[in-house]
Amino acid sequence: MKRKVTKAIFPVAGLGTRFLPATKSVPKEIMTLVDRPLIQYAIDEARAAGIKEFIFVTSRGKGALEDYFDHAPQLEEELRRKGKNQLLETLESTNMESGAIAYIRQHKALGLGHAVWCARRLIADEPFAVILPDDVIAADKPCLQQMVEAYAETGGNMVAAMEVAPEKTSSYGMLDVSEDMGAMVRVQGMVEKPPAGQAPSNLAVIGRYILSPSVLTNLQKIKSGAGGEIQLTDAIAREIENENGVYGYRFAGQRFDCGSKSGFLQATVAFGLAREELHDDLSAYLHDIVTMGKAAE
Ligand code: G1P
Repeated sequence: MKRKVTKAIFPVAGLGTRFLPATKSVPKEIMTLVDRPLIQYAIDEARAAGIKEFIFVTSRGKGALEDYFDHAPQLEEELRRKGKNQLLETLESTNMESGAIAYIRQHKALGLGHAVWCARRLIADEPFAVILPDDVIAADKPCLQQMVEAYAETGGNMVAAMEVAPEKTSSYGMLDVSEDMGAMVRVQGMVEKPPAGQAPSNLAVIGRYILSPSVLTNLQKIKSGAGGEIQLTDAIAREIENENGVYGYRFAGQRFDCGSKSGFLQATVAFGLAREELHDDLSAYLHDIVTMGKAAE
């Protein structure tokens, strides 16, 4: 049965140790690309895809994330008084409707699958999306929206997919493909972080999912997998035998791995260049340092 996808889970419980010392007091998801926190990009993408309920799976020390989504009446009033209408608009565009956000705590870091399972009572019996805010995707049509449209045709379960270099396959959930239909592939196997050289293909899972509620039941049953964690990949793989099956969707867009410093910096440059007011300065600077680097060689 195909249904509208109106709920999304955002797993944000991770400690963000790769970004220490910043993440000592700032949740990783609040770190900014230009001037918007990572989580704002994820929320904007979800909204564009028609998501109405936003479920955050958090952990200790993530208070700043909850505060971020509060309205800021004093600040808004001040901006209004000063006639700073554009800033006011920017601020208001981040406001969330009352009751649209729910926070659930993951008490133990038992893995992505466990984090998603923590939200099971809020999902109940509906298909739902999962967005990993570390994966930031620049696209004309936001990635989850592309997937929701494709999902309207297929139903079942769908994961975002992207070709990765052979030496990178052990960092991802990897797909075994039975039928390649272009943008869409039918999946006959999934393996989380396979050892080097053992991936079934070069097609990796990227952090956007549309899942049937039975994945939550699967999560209840599975044992810990790769890295000793409860893996979402393993729970989705159990759906392959079901009539609805699992699809991979090669999205159009550029994905940045903002869980790594290098990816985060690349995203900062890309999103900076995409801003009209920053483009000229930034590109002149980049051009200069590349030319200087070449001259020094
Ligand atoms: C998670 C998933 C993995 C997926 C990846 C995409 O891994 O477990 O299947 O390929 O996100 O970014 P993580 O990067 O959180 O270890």
